[in-house]
Amino acid sequence: MVIRKDNKKTVAVGREAKRMLGKTPANIMTIRPMKEGVIADFDATGEMLKYFIKKVHNRRSFVSPRVIIGVPSGITQVEQRAVKDAAEASGAREVYLVEEPMAAAIGVGLPVGEPSGNMIVDIGGGTTDVAVISLDGVVYCKAVRVGGDKMDEAIMAYIKRRYSLMVGEMTTEQIKINLGSAFIMEDAEKRVMDIKGRDLISGIPKTITINENEIREALTEPINIILDTIRLALENTPPELAADIVDRGIVLAGGGALLRGIDLLIKQETGLPVIVAENPLTAIVIGVGKMLDELELLRRIAIN
Ligand SMILES: Nc1ncnc2c1ncn2[C@@H]1O[C@H](COP(=O)(O)OP(=O)(O)OP(=O)(O)O)[C@@H](O)[C@H]1O
Ligand SMILES: [Mg+2]
Repeated sequence: MVIRKDNKKTVAVGREAKRMLGKTPANIMTIRPMKEGVIADFDATGEMLKYFIKKVHNRRSFVSPRVIIGVPSGITQVEQRAVKDAAEASGAREVYLVEEPMAAAIGVGLPVGEPSGNMIVDIGGGTTDVAVISLDGVVYCKAVRVGGDKMDEAIMAYIKRRYSLMVGEMTTEQIKINLGSAFIMEDAEKRVMDIKGRDLISGIPKTITINENEIREALTEPINIILDTIRLALENTPPELAADIVDRGIVLAGGGALLRGIDLLIKQETGLPVIVAENPLTAIVIGVGKMLDELELLRRIAIN
């Protein structure tokens, strides 16, 4: 999201702002109002919500909209309040908070209302949420502040350490998306990418070629944290529900589910079937959309 420093004239969000990250002149700031799943900048979050509401809301309608916001499971009451306040301040009429793993589960069509265990692992930008869901509720959940951003940081640190090359945030994310991998693949040596950055020693721009194996190595730490979180969740799942998970498997959602081979790695490490959601990046939004259509479902699931 972009806000002009003087009087907040321009607000750009999404792709448009992302392209500007690390490339702005002094009078423009790029801000990530939400970081690690919670609000980092209250005013900016409000501005962003206002922008979204204006963008999607029927302009002829004078009623302020009903807003459903996905929050990481396990955020504190104070954090919940902050999210609600930001939404209300930006003109929402009714604000419902739903736990993201719940929304994701609904989005991918899991039978959340049944008395059977479903495990969903949502690997987002800031957090990875592991949740076991049964009877419209989260039976167990554990969130770690490790996700796509930490993967980007790990790649950046690796390239800096190994090649003395400083690369920007956008570049690192692109490397992760194009070349990132969590599992040893046959073609890994052949998958390479040219990376441009600034040489830390000479200070001038330089290009290096990097392959998939290197990026897999760079990602070891964040990936292991995600694996540990899944193991912990499995250990803490009541036996009857665990039995269901053995049959149904683990469902992966969130952008991180698109990391090459992450499903194979989790399958290997847990021995359980792993299914990547059809549209991992939009599972939550689709789930929330279903709740908007089914108010009954929403009322059962909202946590406030
Ligand atoms: N093909 C891909 N491979 C690996 N990572 C990807 C891919 N596509 C997107 N991502 C990563 O997924 C993350 C965004 O996922 P998502 O939209 O689920 O997160 P979020 O919901 O915004 O974050 P959070 O849930 O932590 O609040 C980013 O870190 C992005 O780099
Ligand atoms: Mg998310």
